[in-house]
Amino acid sequence: MTEARPDPRRQQWSSGSYDTHARFVSDLATGVVDWLAPRAGERILDLGCGDGVITAELRDRGVDVVGVDASEDFIAAARARGLDARLMDGEDLRFGPEFDAVFSNAALHWMTQADAVVRGIARALKPGGRFVAEFGGHGNVAAIVTAMRAVCQRRGGDLALADPWYFPAPQVYQALLERHGFRVERIALIPRPVVLKTGIESWLAVFRQPFFAQFGAAADAALAETVELLRPALCDADGNWTADYVRLRVAAVKP
Ligand code: BEZ
Repeated sequence: MTEARPDPRRQQWSSGSYDTHARFVSDLATGVVDWLAPRAGERILDLGCGDGVITAELRDRGVDVVGVDASEDFIAAARARGLDARLMDGEDLRFGPEFDAVFSNAALHWMTQADAVVRGIARALKPGGRFVAEFGGHGNVAAIVTAMRAVCQRRGGDLALADPWYFPAPQVYQALLERHGFRVERIALIPRPVVLKTGIESWLAVFRQPFFAQFGAAADAALAETVELLRPALCDADGNWTADYVRLRVAAVKP
């Protein structure tokens, strides 16, 4: 029997490099956790729990929390924190109506089958349950995507690898939720420039490694070219890089 090889087009996660280069993702979750307003004793699903840092915060507040993620490496890291963390595809959630809330931070933009995701969330919630999430909204990392598209066109690469994300506008996402029977209570697009303490190269390497890998021996040259295209827009005179993040934050109820 041959061992399955990871799909080179698919984003791979390493909990170690995520901790070094992307810890700001969970550090910036205070606002969406405030919207969730978790209460002790509630049963909450953390959809796309990553390495479980926020999941553990919820558990420490007395929540009966289940984390799911599609990355084996992240699930191992979350289990090492003593969490109930399960390997599951967010586009194919396997829960019945057992949760008081479904929560998600910085994960839904990786799940392009948004209709399937929202269907699974609706199914997982008890009547009266709430869905509270934050993820990339319309215009998120627009400069970064545009630079990668330019490099891709110059080098004859696959444009889909430059822009694999789902970044909806608020009215589009609200309409999707309403089609699945949700009542949207709050929804907001929030510009959120994020200073990248470890620079743009490591951001690109952590978040878009399949894009650069497609160029094989020229991967480093493609990365350097992308960095130089971005420098005027995202790097200040002191050499600090800022990513052009825009978040979509939403709170909705299943009647
Ligand atoms: C984000 O968290 O906004 C994000 C993550 C990965 C790629 C692009 C954006």
